[in-house]
Amino acid sequence: MTDLLTPVLTADWGTDRAWTLAEYRKTGGYEALEKALKMAPAEVVELVKESGLRGRGGAGFPTGMKWGFIPQDNPKPKYLVVNADESEPGTCKDIPFMMATPHTLIEGVIIAAHAIGAQQAFIYVRGEVLHVIRRLRAACREAYEAGYLGDGLNGKGILDSGISIDLVIHAGAGAYICGEETALLDSLEGRRGQPRLRPPFPAVEGLYASPTVINNVESIASVPSIVRGGHEWFASMGTEKSKGYVIYSLSGHVKKPGQYEAPLGITLRQLIDLGGGMREGAALKFWTPGGSSTPLLTAEHLDMPLDYESVGAAGSMLGTRALQIFDQTTSVVRAVLRWTEFYKHESCGKCTPCREGTWWLVQTLQRLDAGEGKEGDIELLVDLCENILGRSFCALGDGATSPITSAIQHFREEFEAGMHTPSSELFPPAASMLF
Ligand code: NAI
Ligand code: SF4
Repeated sequence: MTDLLTPVLTADWGTDRAWTLAEYRKTGGYEALEKALKMAPAEVVELVKESGLRGRGGAGFPTGMKWGFIPQDNPKPKYLVVNADESEPGTCKDIPFMMATPHTLIEGVIIAAHAIGAQQAFIYVRGEVLHVIRRLRAACREAYEAGYLGDGLNGKGILDSGISIDLVIHAGAGAYICGEETALLDSLEGRRGQPRLRPPFPAVEGLYASPTVINNVESIASVPSIVRGGHEWFASMGTEKSKGYVIYSLSGHVKKPGQYEAPLGITLRQLIDLGGGMREGAALKFWTPGGSSTPLLTAEHLDMPLDYESVGAAGSMLGTRALQIFDQTTSVVRAVLRWTEFYKHESCGKCTPCREGTWWLVQTLQRLDAGEGKEGDIELLVDLCENILGRSFCALGDGATSPITSAIQHFREEFEAGMHTPSSELFPPAASMLF
């Protein structure tokens, strides 16, 4: 099975002190930057377009196309912002990546900033992960000292290119909504993070109302290897429309949960095999393809390719590739209640369907979890979800409905049992390792 692994981003995760500049240079670190700085910005954009790289933060929007949206005739400054506010439940790829090899991200930032003509870049990191913030700041200092950032070593720009780029590592305050790109911009500008109306998209009017590219950590970190290996090499992996390799976060009732780097388009069955198989006595009951904001799938989908198109056709979304695996001892009602409590807590309160709706969803699910459900509670859940989905201001509201409607679709009998029997009786907590 290990021949499925394509360690590029994770190649040095096992290397001692891989986070230092000295170690990074030993494996060709910053050579892609040298190459990219000799290319015209438009050539770099074209290379990334041709590679087929799609945003790794969840939405899968083509990265090169997003860079191409930056209006180069606009006299305002251009900004590059890396979204490192990883918070989607089950998603744990960017944080270990930044701890292991922060210089790959910094090299990607400099190349991307060069491509879009930005002189100022930011990495917006989730506030709770102080260890990551410290590591990024240390790597950023090293990059400045080596002349890869700022005006270069002798004031003639980075590697004498005449190009100057500054990078700020910004710590958020720990709010899930600040991972939404426009709320992130508000937060970066010093305001309370709440989503903005789109359009205008950030590419046209973003940070300080200037053209801004916002990309996920893994997207930007993939850029140096594309510059080094070429677009054909990158596009030779994955499927026709979902190219390249990605980091899958595998968690739950498998023997070896963790991060596995492999091409897009492998199946969950293959991924579970990579994770050592299901735990002893565990059988797959349900799973999330891309965190809790993506509709649940079941064992029926074990052989479906994990690419944007196939997962979409199955009625879900690939999202952040956070594969949370649940076995037969898990109460789906309790799992969905936990996620919904999270969304209620993290709702920013800006719009009524999400602010009020998530509160009502939690009340109703709590009743069903306690075995005290009322006649009509399942219909109430479905009705609430219908009034949140598509009527909320941002994707958080929509995401909150995904686990509920899909769980009712696949496991309605468990919600019906919630009219008379507590989840804890049907699925004793001692038997369940997760909930
Ligand atoms: P989206 O599809 O609305 O936008 C994706 C990107 O493309 C954005 O950067 C947007 O600015 C850009 N874009 C789209 N249309 C454009 C246009 N016409 N012109 C210029 N730019 C355009 O998706 P969104 O709302 O940004 O992200 C939702 C995704 O985030 C979900 O699929 C979910 O999987 C993921 N997510 C990830 C989390 C994490 O921790 N990584 C947390 C929560 C959600
Ligand atoms: Fe805020 Fe929720 Fe509305 Fe998004 S959907 S703007 S998180 S209240």
